[in-house]
Amino acid sequence: MGYFHTERGVEEYTEMAKGFDGAHLIEFLGKHLTPGSTVLELGMGPGVDLDLLARTYKVTGSDYSQVFLDRYKSSHPEADLVLVDAVSPHVDRRFDCIYSNKVLHHLTRDEMRGSLLAQRDLLNVDGLAMHSFWWGTGEEVMAGLRFVYYTEETLAEAIADTGFEIVELSRYSEMEPDDSIMVLLKSTQ
Ligand SMILES: C[S@@+](CC[C@H](N)C(=O)[O-])C[C@H]1O[C@@H](n2cnc3c(N)ncnc32)[C@H](O)[C@@H]1O
Repeated sequence: MGYFHTERGVEEYTEMAKGFDGAHLIEFLGKHLTPGSTVLELGMGPGVDLDLLARTYKVTGSDYSQVFLDRYKSSHPEADLVLVDAVSPHVDRRFDCIYSNKVLHHLTRDEMRGSLLAQRDLLNVDGLAMHSFWWGTGEEVMAGLRFVYYTEETLAEAIADTGFEIVELSRYSEMEPDDSIMVLLKSTQ
């Protein structure tokens, strides 16, 4: 079982991630997404961003780890949660937006493209997708987890011909200056 599928890994990640959230990503999203829209979060982890998104949108949380989902459900029994692997996301509904924060870098570059193609099919007309990554080149494995890094160029390449147009693609700072990159996409299908 992988890091995020064990109680120990989930506990360790939750502690490590304390104090970090996607508030500025969600604030930026607010300029493009109408309040009350439906949002699917991929890789919600402890649910910090899901709570922020829920202030403005109708949210569905998801993760490929049942451990994260069970933990969140125990403190939010009313939450709409689904077990979804971002590699091939399937949900029996469509959404106005799909959001992830530092999740898709765990996919290979081929899986990332496949995920975007599948996400497009989960979106309503003119739907949006917003994703963040660690900025950089190459890839590595840490604690059994794959980390694939993206620059402005390699991220644009990964998105090409997936049925999305780029609304915004820019670097930002999370732990160190300019260590991260985000993209806001609009479905062209
Ligand atoms: C770095 S955490 C980010 C969690 C959350 N977005 C946050 O900001 O705290 C990565 C999350 O992505 C999930 N994840 C990793 N690979 C995934 C995949 N293939 N499908 C769905 N979730 C995945 C992990 O279980 C974990 O919850």
